[in-house]
Amino acid sequence: MTTNEIIKQLFLAFSKQDNEDFIRIAEEFIDSEKRKKHNIAAKQLKDALYASAKSNKAVIHSNRYRANIPIPRDNDSGFPLLEVREYNLSWDDLVISNNKKLILEQICNEIQSTDILATYNLAPARKTLFCGMPGTGKTFCAKILSSVLQTPLVYINFDAIISSYLGETATNLRKVFEFIKNGMWVVLFDEVDIIGKNRDDHHELGEIKRVVNNFLQMIDNFEGESLLICATNHPHILDPAIWRRFDEIINFELPDKEERERLINLYLKPIKKDSNLNLSSIGKETEGFSPSDLQLMCKEAMKHVIINNRDVLTSIEMNYVLTRYRERHALRQKNGGMRF
Ligand SMILES: Nc1ncnc2c1ncn2[C@@H]1O[C@H](COP(=O)(O)OP(=O)(O)O)[C@@H](O)[C@H]1O
Ligand SMILES: [Mg+2]
Repeated sequence: MTTNEIIKQLFLAFSKQDNEDFIRIAEEFIDSEKRKKHNIAAKQLKDALYASAKSNKAVIHSNRYRANIPIPRDNDSGFPLLEVREYNLSWDDLVISNNKKLILEQICNEIQSTDILATYNLAPARKTLFCGMPGTGKTFCAKILSSVLQTPLVYINFDAIISSYLGETATNLRKVFEFIKNGMWVVLFDEVDIIGKNRDDHHELGEIKRVVNNFLQMIDNFEGESLLICATNHPHILDPAIWRRFDEIINFELPDKEERERLINLYLKPIKKDSNLNLSSIGKETEGFSPSDLQLMCKEAMKHVIINNRDVLTSIEMNYVLTRYRERHALRQKNGGMRF
């Protein structure tokens, strides 16, 4: 088919609102580009075709997995051990330093190039550790990766599956790994810092250490197709052996002045702003704030505008919330960095 013919077919599919046909023709065209070794163009076209996680492909994927595999549950409580979630986020939702973004993009590219890598006997990095202070975007980033890869996120709150009967924990972990083995997911083991939280309880410490070692062993032995992410706010309290278990370790840092300004702009996007509002000065005055702090602050400012029936956000609201959040931040610093 000539390019003109393909475009005509696409137009026809569009006017008939036939999504399936549209995707089929587009995929055929991408394949023909690949055959011509136009690999970059093919990849760009594919990214464009599946830019939205709501695209057919993503829905078909997730439904297939969801339909076939029951969610594992804790024997005692009956609670689900994991959740399967879908997100529709993009890189634009994430503000992060360029070098971190490159690492994250590389992780995605490797996973998407699994087949090509395999022909060279190479495998993508599949085991990653996210560490860094609360509110810096570890959980959020897992959602972004899930969106970009158009692969559902399996969310596991590590704390929650460490059941009150520690004996059950090994069984729970086995069930979780059994589940993820059967599909292609982005798997997030969130808040894996359980050892730190229970440090005072010497009686249980040995047992918990055993559980964590057991978990690390399972990570080591994992050979499935999924991308595994472990996230922790306290990497220093994890077993030193943890560092060599991961293909990639990303340390999430607090945003610098420029990044804070970008975040503030991002979070205030939904509201009209007064032309005199100087967001760059707010960026300067929020040193030490995490993205999550900035988000809360911006939400509060917007609520003031909306509730008071004003048309635009002005420096009055921004300065008010800035003062409040700076006080809050100072209080937190005084209390050893605790978040509230
Ligand atoms: N780097 C970031 N860029 C944009 N938004 C962010 C970023 N980090 C955090 N956020 C916002 O703050 C919220 C809380 O962050 P979260 O990912 O839960 O932090 P963590 O898991 O590191 O404690 C996120 O849902 C997101 O809206
Ligand atoms: Mg988190």
